[in-house]
Amino acid sequence: MKKRWWHDKTAYQIYPKSFKDNNGDGIGDLRGIIEKLDYLKELGIGIVWISPIYKSPFVDQGYDISDYYAIDPAFGTMEDMDELLKEAKKRDIAIVMDLVVNHCSDQHEWFQKALKDPFGPYGEYFYIREGKDGNPPCNWRSYFGGSVWEKLPGYDNLFYLHMFAKEQPDLNWENPKVRQEIYKMIRWWLEKGIAGFRLDAIINIKKDLRFVDFPADREDGMCAGTTMLAYARGVMDFLQEMKQEAFAPYDAFTIGELFDFRPQELKRYIGNEGCFESIFDFSPHLLGASENGWYDRRKISMDEFRDTVFESKAVSQEIGMMANIIENHDEPRGVSRYLPKDGQNDRGKKLLAGISLMTFGLPFLYQGQEIGMTNKRFSSIEEVDDISTLDEYQVALEHGIGEDEALKIVSEMSRDNARTPMQWSDDEHGGFTEGNPWLLVNENYKELNVKEQEGREDSVLSFYKKLIALRTDSEYGEAVVYGKQEPVLTELQNFTGFYRRGKEKTLLVLANVQKEKRSVSVTAAVKGVVADNCGMEPGIEAVEKTEDGSRISMEGYQFLILETENI
Ligand code: GLC
Ligand code: CA
Repeated sequence: MKKRWWHDKTAYQIYPKSFKDNNGDGIGDLRGIIEKLDYLKELGIGIVWISPIYKSPFVDQGYDISDYYAIDPAFGTMEDMDELLKEAKKRDIAIVMDLVVNHCSDQHEWFQKALKDPFGPYGEYFYIREGKDGNPPCNWRSYFGGSVWEKLPGYDNLFYLHMFAKEQPDLNWENPKVRQEIYKMIRWWLEKGIAGFRLDAIINIKKDLRFVDFPADREDGMCAGTTMLAYARGVMDFLQEMKQEAFAPYDAFTIGELFDFRPQELKRYIGNEGCFESIFDFSPHLLGASENGWYDRRKISMDEFRDTVFESKAVSQEIGMMANIIENHDEPRGVSRYLPKDGQNDRGKKLLAGISLMTFGLPFLYQGQEIGMTNKRFSSIEEVDDISTLDEYQVALEHGIGEDEALKIVSEMSRDNARTPMQWSDDEHGGFTEGNPWLLVNENYKELNVKEQEGREDSVLSFYKKLIALRTDSEYGEAVVYGKQEPVLTELQNFTGFYRRGKEKTLLVLANVQKEKRSVSVTAAVKGVVADNCGMEPGIEAVEKTEDGSRISMEGYQFLILETENI
């Protein structure tokens, strides 16, 4: 694996609408981000990915872009963007934008032109197909529910394809003109000084062009869009072309959002020959899912989390660096989702932070994770904004689940859990806005906010800072970033343990994921304590030398990073 400039960084995702409102209209904006750059710097962040800020009708919160070359007025102006880039650069923070090119908005000029003349050149920018006697061409289901096909207004038997909402028509990547337009736009942004892109839903750009039915997987007679993807061949040609024509000339950082790939394919995606620099490791987030939808989802244990991450690292660490997340704008808050109920406190939150940040890979934090923000309790479906949640709520009702129960399920899995405004202080609306926030703030902001945790040495925030700083630490940095990850004590339940073997230093990471104390034995001699979530002045008292190594007594939910001799 070739060394890259971003390997020892820590990245941070900003969901701009909910990060910081600077002008009091209740919507986060670019000036709000500028205001908080010092905060991010102080936290130790080196890369910031901002979810879409392009011009958009916001049917899917900016993931429906109507102009790739404009900033949406809700977020500010292009001058604000230029200033953000300048200010970020001063602080050595790289800015990464969202690249949403599987689809655009139905308000985009291209689609508007296609509507006027579906048989003209812009009709070729989309997938427009004839239906079967007024019915959709095939039975694929969109990610947000319903058919992927929508009738073209004014035609009885013409449809356009949308893998997501009907306001997000898919761009036809088979058309070289479309591809060239996209590469041109990418180069334009890179020219401006952004460091790279996060590639949204990127695997969807290649379709099975036969547009045929697959066996239905629900009573609606449709099949998941992902079924089709398994038959789509040739996505790599597009991705390599995009890399050569758009990213490589700028040495851009690229991180792909993709699910469902086989381990043996990883080399094609990341590492020296891969089409991206990195991809997110979604392995734990995929566990417990059911093809029926959220209502049928199973809670997974921290041991399952451990096993799947170990499996994923066993393959990836030889090839390249994937990005580790516990949450993002599409997932519930990690601390609410993965920690057992009795561990959902500061100690448990630090433990989860420790596991995630010490695992081989690029740590990718999501705004608010660093203070341990939690899921929101929605008191009515009216409080929910997200298009996908509203669909899943309907799916649950259709399966005979009562409204209260459906709301409870939604409160666990809704994308709005992580989209509530950032909790900066205990001021009204968590200090996020002086106006009315576009989405309700989580009611726990009075106790849970940045201001309360800043400067408090034993806060979750301080622990994150400490873990982040380890990546660039002169003594331990090499082991934390490049050290080989080797599982240990995997036979234990409610436990996560692994070594990180660097060139000179060996670290032992231990997490007792239960409220009961326990003691564990390892064959290496412990030399010292590097981090401990149970005390800021780590001592070595809990470690006992044994004949063939060390025995370590651990408190409930204790997390330790120990330095051991190299064996
Ligand atoms: C990605 C985004 C998600 C969006 C979807 C469609 O999965 O992360 O928020 O809804 O793509 O663009
Ligand atoms: Ca604003």
